[in-house]
Amino acid sequence: MSLAATPLDNAPFGAVIRLPEGVTDPSKLSPDDFKLLEKALHTYLVVVIPNQKDLSPKSQFELTTMFDETCNKTSQSYGHGKTFRHEDSVLKKDGTTVPSQPQVQVIGNGYWSDHHGLDNFKLTQPSQRTFHHKTLTANELENNQTRFYRWHIDSALYELSPPKCTTLLGIHVPNSDEKQKIIYEDTNEVLELTKGATAFLSGKTAFDSLSPEDKELALNTTVVYAPHPYIFISPARATSDGITMVSENKERSFGDLPPWEESKVKKLPMVWTNPTTGKQHLQFHGCCAYKLINNKTGKETPLEETRDLLQRLYRPAISPENIYCHSWKEGDLVIFYNRGVSHSVTGEFAEKDKRLMHQCNIASGEDPVCVK
Ligand SMILES: [Fe+2]
Repeated sequence: MSLAATPLDNAPFGAVIRLPEGVTDPSKLSPDDFKLLEKALHTYLVVVIPNQKDLSPKSQFELTTMFDETCNKTSQSYGHGKTFRHEDSVLKKDGTTVPSQPQVQVIGNGYWSDHHGLDNFKLTQPSQRTFHHKTLTANELENNQTRFYRWHIDSALYELSPPKCTTLLGIHVPNSDEKQKIIYEDTNEVLELTKGATAFLSGKTAFDSLSPEDKELALNTTVVYAPHPYIFISPARATSDGITMVSENKERSFGDLPPWEESKVKKLPMVWTNPTTGKQHLQFHGCCAYKLINNKTGKETPLEETRDLLQRLYRPAISPENIYCHSWKEGDLVIFYNRGVSHSVTGEFAEKDKRLMHQCNIASGEDPVCVK
């Protein structure tokens, strides 16, 4: 029996993978079965391999690299590179590293000990509390509300190319009967989700939802990211939907960033073409974008307008019926096509709440392209 993918029930995209008989470690798949897995990833965008709790960090790293023959397999570098834990980066608290496999990050919440050579360490689940402009009130938190923390592509967005995929392994996760909800600020729609669910939007749905004029615009636009974008935005705060930042001129000035070079500033197409399906995906990081360039006219869109436009373009794709929220079970290995979806943390965790995951993505050797 070869590897098989079955679309997820009651989800707009995503699939569950059944490994071939006799294979428990997906990094040991035969070349033919791996091809099936890669095709499923590009087709369903998010795939879940259950019962992987004991997958070693080494196997997870090896599996992650198999999806990208251009990535640097010998580098110690994670997809984010060396400014990942910079003191002023908005990502600084988002995790720690497995000592024996530094490309694998440990993320989650609570106090932990004796984990793959790590002892007595604390993990902090990202929260809207420290990132959103208008944070949830005490009443809203009491009412079990949460938010999309930050819709994003996993990427340094400076110097390095976006990873092709991310692998995320749930080792200790909250009970699936613990529920929280997101109330959309603009429509009052209510989305109920398991505490700590990872939310995904499909870049394909986002592109397909655009008007013909917006499709034309998106296909002809380059998104320019700020140098060291996570440090650039650190004093600013995000919109309540997690799509972009509120423009209040709080960003750090370019002169106040770590040294940077114009040649390393990331300029990426707004639409990335799926290499397997040929479908177009609307792909950007609305919090880190700095400006847009119209490829036909050269006209540049400034920061505030850029953010407003990106928020408008992504809004339909985060509607409850269009997103997939992965409700974690222990041992789930979720692989997502980082060039075809955006994702967001959800969940408000108390200090006592425990969660531990392994995450891996490796910067690619090539940028995504738009094929028209
Ligand atoms: Fe992420």
